[in-house]
Amino acid sequence: MRRALHPLPVCLPAVLLLSQICSGIKWLALSQTPASMPINRTHHCKGLQGLVSAQVQLCRSNLELMQTVIQAAREVQKTCQKTFGDMRWNCSSIENAPHFPPDLERGTREAAFVYALAAATISHTIARACTTGDLRYCSCGPVPGQAPEPGHRWGGCADNLHYGLVVGTKFADAPMKTKKSRSQANKLMHLHNSEVGRQALRDALELKCKCHGVSGSCSIRTCWKGLQDLKNIAMDLKIKYLSATKVVHRPMGTRKQLVPKDLDIRPVRENEMVYLQSSPDFCSRSEKQGSFGTQGRQCNKTSSGSDSCDLMCCGRGYNPYVETLVEKCHCKYHWCCYVTCKRCERTVERYICK
Ligand SMILES: *[C@@H]1O[C@H](CO)[C@@H](O)[C@H](O)[C@H]1NC(C)=O
Ligand SMILES: *[C@@H]1O[C@H](CO)[C@@H](O)[C@H](O)[C@H]1NC(C)=O
Ligand SMILES: *[C@@H]1O[C@H](CO)[C@@H](O)[C@H](O)[C@H]1NC(C)=O
Repeated sequence: MRRALHPLPVCLPAVLLLSQICSGIKWLALSQTPASMPINRTHHCKGLQGLVSAQVQLCRSNLELMQTVIQAAREVQKTCQKTFGDMRWNCSSIENAPHFPPDLERGTREAAFVYALAAATISHTIARACTTGDLRYCSCGPVPGQAPEPGHRWGGCADNLHYGLVVGTKFADAPMKTKKSRSQANKLMHLHNSEVGRQALRDALELKCKCHGVSGSCSIRTCWKGLQDLKNIAMDLKIKYLSATKVVHRPMGTRKQLVPKDLDIRPVRENEMVYLQSSPDFCSRSEKQGSFGTQGRQCNKTSSGSDSCDLMCCGRGYNPYVETLVEKCHCKYHWCCYVTCKRCERTVERYICK
């Protein structure tokens, strides 16, 4: 006998089917799109993995944007894993998009980081694509309103942060704005953290200058507003992750809002990352909690940070092994014009968690 499937209005971590309607970052599955895939309106917008209908609409109306969005999805994955390479939770589950394990499916601190990073990255990538001329509907950002400093002049091509934010927000927030219900609390959490990510991006706009003048005298500088690299923004968000605030969904005035769980009665701040559910310590493997455990992870014996063998291995101890590195050495320059090198081997001791 077949049972009818009811659309359920809440995100419950343990029920697999529900995960399909609970995630707002399924678009990260676009990172698996082959680089060479041509995208055409009728065929591909619908066929692209992980998009909600509003995102498919955006794809149809702005087809050339999609290569940039695909690139953003790849950047999110790469940057998240780099930023968390020294932590017990190392962002490996992001590769499972669009079907995430519970660490990213629930309202966790880790999900908070990924939503913030995803929102920042898509706007960053679009803003940069405007500058490089990859997008037809936008170009360089505006020249700043204030006068340049003495010896400076405005020039170059500013990153188009405004366009990046408008279009990136439309795309990234679309899943949280659909009626297909997820729990209201999760939706609010994800929208809030996405905005935290975009605020970090706004804060990353800085003055960049190039020197001109006789033989590099730098008597004149041409300057523009450019965005810092994504890895800096990700580091900024990692700090917010480490100091994230646990919140609950409770009535405040006439509506239910997210408020810090500890008793101080204040609304959440705009720049603080928030989460609803505590995470495990990620020391041991637990599929139910979305923890891969740290057995077999490399640790650093001399570090005192999160990648130290003590912290990474959770006190279980570690095994040394020897790795042989092959490097170029004794390089010689030959007139004219090439270099020859020898190959030298060097051994280093490394450690992995028991
Ligand atoms: C779109 O892609 C499909 C499948 O690759 C192809 O059959 C179709 O001809 C394409 N349409 C256009 C307008 O290029
Ligand atoms: C991340 O952690 C997983 C699970 O412990 C491990 O399999 C993977 O190799 C790690 N990735 C990196 C880049 O260290
Ligand atoms: C281990 O940590 C130390 C101190 O933080 C650092 O200098 C070194 O490069 C690290 N080694 C590896 C293999 O990452």
